[in-house]
Amino acid sequence: MLSGKNILLGVTGGIAAYKTANLIRLFKKSGANVQVLMTPHSKQFITPLTLSTLSEKPVYSDFSDVNTGEWNSHVGLGAWAAIFIIAPATANSIAKMANGLCDNLLLATYLSAKCPVFIAPAMDLDMYRHATTKENLKKLLKIGVHIIDAQVGELASGLVGKGRMEEPEAILAVIIDYFKSGLPLAGKKVLITAGPTYEQIDPVRFIGNNSSGKMGFELARKAIEMGANVTLIAGPTKLTSPSNSIQRIDVKSAAEMNQEVQNNYKKADIIIMAAAVADYTPLVVARNKLKKTEKELQIQLIATQDILSSIGQVKSNKQLLIGFALETSNEIKNAKEKLSRKNLDLIVLNSLNDKGAGFEYDTNKVTLIDKNNKVEKCELKSKSEVASDIFNKIISLL
Ligand code: CTP
Repeated sequence: MLSGKNILLGVTGGIAAYKTANLIRLFKKSGANVQVLMTPHSKQFITPLTLSTLSEKPVYSDFSDVNTGEWNSHVGLGAWAAIFIIAPATANSIAKMANGLCDNLLLATYLSAKCPVFIAPAMDLDMYRHATTKENLKKLLKIGVHIIDAQVGELASGLVGKGRMEEPEAILAVIIDYFKSGLPLAGKKVLITAGPTYEQIDPVRFIGNNSSGKMGFELARKAIEMGANVTLIAGPTKLTSPSNSIQRIDVKSAAEMNQEVQNNYKKADIIIMAAAVADYTPLVVARNKLKKTEKELQIQLIATQDILSSIGQVKSNKQLLIGFALETSNEIKNAKEKLSRKNLDLIVLNSLNDKGAGFEYDTNKVTLIDKNNKVEKCELKSKSEVASDIFNKIISLL
């Protein structure tokens, strides 16, 4: 979620500085570039070596490099950052920030940075509830500094109260939410089905199909990039999840996929059924491997639950339901009929007649038909671009 984002992380002199090491790890794991700034006092609580090793960058603390005399430009550091977070922020540094003092590199950078600033205060309970600290925090809040409130708990003094720095995982969540907030699907929950299903005939054989899952996985990637929370119900596929933020549920058969969709659809705002679900499944699954004793073998199949239709019957009018259709004749007419029969808001029509479109390709050519019968034919594009087109359409329907 923080891929390529430049985060300036300021560390001031409080015992909670030991938690900053973990915060850097979390930021780095989320894909961010982290530049650490330390106040001179903070080095008594955690070493610059620890933080530079974790951030994979030199840590800055002085206005100039003590060896080379080179200027550590606070102006350049502020300009580089997408956000500046100070964690922990002590009462002393908060007071200086509120009054425009800049007697160290971290504070000078704060004064020159134009990016959003977050602080995670950490101090003893009496310092936190002191009228001056309250006043300083109010002042910072008023000028647009984001305050990640301290938590109640055991403090370094042995006292119990409010003053503990927020946990690194929660700070990470605040920062991710901040970056998501400007995105078009922020706060939306998206449920996507992808891939084929396997219907077991006996312990070693199944009925499957050629779906690779690529289209559904690209949709999941795009939804994450657009700020959504994503649940991906995937049939058997070799694909790896495009993001760690995706809640992935692996299933095998149409029945299992149906079960997981029924378990998860209620909390979704947008439901996209990109999976190629088997329409039929063997009536009986042989307990042992079938032997080739006869010239002919007949396997009796029964219809599976049409998952898309079943959700179309129960969805609320706040939920958007999107289905796929693969047609080989009378394509638009059949797709429109499917859209209305299954009570969809949008149908994505694939045609097997189009070169480069369909199951195993990295490209696809689709036609989008919405519930108002508006038909939009798209060019042959990468599945990633098709996913963008589909979400742009969905956003216009929201
Ligand atoms: N689908 C589903 N459950 C099934 C079969 C299909 O949810 N048991 C969904 C697919 O995920 C897709 C849509 O239905 O979004 C279209 O599937 P398709 O096979 O084209 O449509 P059918 O309704 O099965 O119609 P037909 O095969 O007769 O064209």
